[in-house]
Amino acid sequence: MTAQRTPYHEHLDILRQRAGQALERGGFDHLIIAAGRPLRKFADDQDYPFAVNPGFKHWLPLLDAPGSWLVISPGQRPRLIFLQPHDYWHVVPAAPTGDWVEHFDIRIIRQPLEAEAELKALAPQAAILGAAADALPSVIPNNPPAVVAYLDYHRAYKTGYELERMRQASALGTAAHLAAQRAFRAGASELEIHLAYMAAAGQTEPELPYGNIICLNEHSAILHYTQLQKRAPAESRSMLIDAGASAAGYASDITRSHARDTDGEFQSLIEAVDAAERGFAAKVVAGQSYPDLHIHAHHVLAGVLRDHGILRMSPEAAVAQGVSAVFFPHGLGHLIGLQVHDVAGFAPSDHGGHQPPPEGHPYLRMTRGLEPGMVVTIEPGLYFIDMLLAELKTRPVAAQVDWARVEAFRPYGGVRIEDNVLCTESAPENMTRDAFARHLS
Ligand code: GLY
Ligand code: MN
Ligand code: MN
Repeated sequence: MTAQRTPYHEHLDILRQRAGQALERGGFDHLIIAAGRPLRKFADDQDYPFAVNPGFKHWLPLLDAPGSWLVISPGQRPRLIFLQPHDYWHVVPAAPTGDWVEHFDIRIIRQPLEAEAELKALAPQAAILGAAADALPSVIPNNPPAVVAYLDYHRAYKTGYELERMRQASALGTAAHLAAQRAFRAGASELEIHLAYMAAAGQTEPELPYGNIICLNEHSAILHYTQLQKRAPAESRSMLIDAGASAAGYASDITRSHARDTDGEFQSLIEAVDAAERGFAAKVVAGQSYPDLHIHAHHVLAGVLRDHGILRMSPEAAVAQGVSAVFFPHGLGHLIGLQVHDVAGFAPSDHGGHQPPPEGHPYLRMTRGLEPGMVVTIEPGLYFIDMLLAELKTRPVAAQVDWARVEAFRPYGGVRIEDNVLCTESAPENMTRDAFARHLS
């Protein structure tokens, strides 16, 4: 009887095929991947939290494996060299368990240097992926560009196994968003909202895919605000929360905006951005150029600004004169997966290269066309950022702005709505909205 093939089994087959192709491109016989080592803080005996090499966790859901290595040799079972030190000071990584174990030949080592004996004969014919600090005396990461370009490019196409992990990351993140929203309504501080979020996600800060962005009031105008004030403001008018969760090393990246006054003008601005975002997410279909979608978003958001009395000009003029970019000064989104900003968003092919974003849009992180299997974020926003508004005020086009309306919105900071959306052969799958809907049903 043949064993039932699981999504993970299929995932590994795909990765082995990709590894074979990548090695052929680079002229190598083996792929060696370092899990990595924790970074030591300068002049200290403490390490920064360990973050495993994303190329390592692509193969197996093993995140706490500093000093371990993977060896992929075409035609052979993948090998895991697993460092499990004798150490009574720290919790040592547990012996590998889980469904994935049966797919690997596993060798336990007790000292980092023991990997040297396992790897040194292969190293001269190997593509060795890792950081310089991972080097062993004769196993020195070379990160061959042809191999890296191939693997990174194809990482954009998620396997069924990966999509399941990403749906889990969305489920955890949305549950935590709902807890954060309750804390906001109860008048909590940014730190208290953050703690409510982590408790609901069941994840500590190093386990989250990125530092939580939790902004009350004007803080929402700071795109990557991570200060976490410890005292609640006298009045919490608005909250922007950009926070994700991790599942077996895969990320979700979710933003929601909330108004205290659910009948007010800021709520109506949130609803307009939310409707616009749903429209963009619906365009995550095969063949859609992502930069074109980003430019389309500028036009739609400029229309929202006009509808809310902030601009008096046409969307076309607002985009052409760089006015929409004052209020929407970041990219529409990015690839997501093993890293929140996943690799190869600019790669024109699996030979590498760099397709830059369109002129005037330097912060767009994704210039590839959309294809089935890609998961991207869609994250439009409108902000009232003093620095950018001050610059706009000096330009002749400032006459097209209703500055009293800008003043009225400034105390709320800004709005961002962010979902994680899978491009399929047919309709897109909005992992974030599906996950919210499951909690609320
Ligand atoms: N959370 C960072 C981003 O949305 O890209
Ligand atoms: Mn985000
Ligand atoms: Mn994002």
